[in-house]
Amino acid sequence: MTTLFITSRFFDLSAAEIHALLKLRSDVFVTEQGWAHTDIEDIDIDGSSRHLLAYDLSERPMPFLGAARVIDEDGKAKLGRICLSPAGRGTGVSTELIDAAIAMARETFPDRDIVLDAQVPLIDFYSRHGFEPYGDPFEQGGIERQPMVLAAT
Ligand SMILES: CC(C)(COP(=O)(O)OP(=O)(O)OC[C@H]1O[C@@H](n2cnc3c(N)ncnc32)[C@H](O)[C@@H]1OP(=O)(O)O)[C@@H](O)C(=O)NCCC(=O)NCCS
Repeated sequence: MTTLFITSRFFDLSAAEIHALLKLRSDVFVTEQGWAHTDIEDIDIDGSSRHLLAYDLSERPMPFLGAARVIDEDGKAKLGRICLSPAGRGTGVSTELIDAAIAMARETFPDRDIVLDAQVPLIDFYSRHGFEPYGDPFEQGGIERQPMVLAAT
């Protein structure tokens, strides 16, 4: 699988890109994982936020593969909404997705720690990308999460 990554502010996305981005997030987080809160937030369209969109370049039209976003949260670069379509999972693309998300966070918010709230089964996964647990685990929408940080370089 060859992957194309695009980084953009929300209001620079095309209507088709917005549809693909929000549909995947809704399919994954609301339908699949049963989040009890709204996936779309005002921070999505904030001028400081950036969105990562991943496409599978090996097919035409290119299937939408995955997404992530980075937002400003208390002076830290907060990664979230990290997801792959079912077709992208277990293929190794997740490594590229996280690398691209980290690169987006570093470019958008230079010299800041990068944080995320890992779903607990994914702690080892994020650890392999350099993130370390900090603080206490907490529950959000029925999902156990562990705050993790990747220190600024
Ligand atoms: C998170 C995600 C991008 C990882 O991509 P992937 O292709 O599944 O990644 P891998 O195959 O390398 O698996 C990574 C780890 O996730 C675990 N995992 C994947 N799906 C899982 C699930 N539904 N429940 C629990 N663990 C899961 C794997 O067991 C693996 O654990 P390990 O690192 O301890 O071996 C993808 O599974 C996804 O989009 N999941 C739904 C959205 C989500 O949960 N996002 C994370 C928010 S913190």
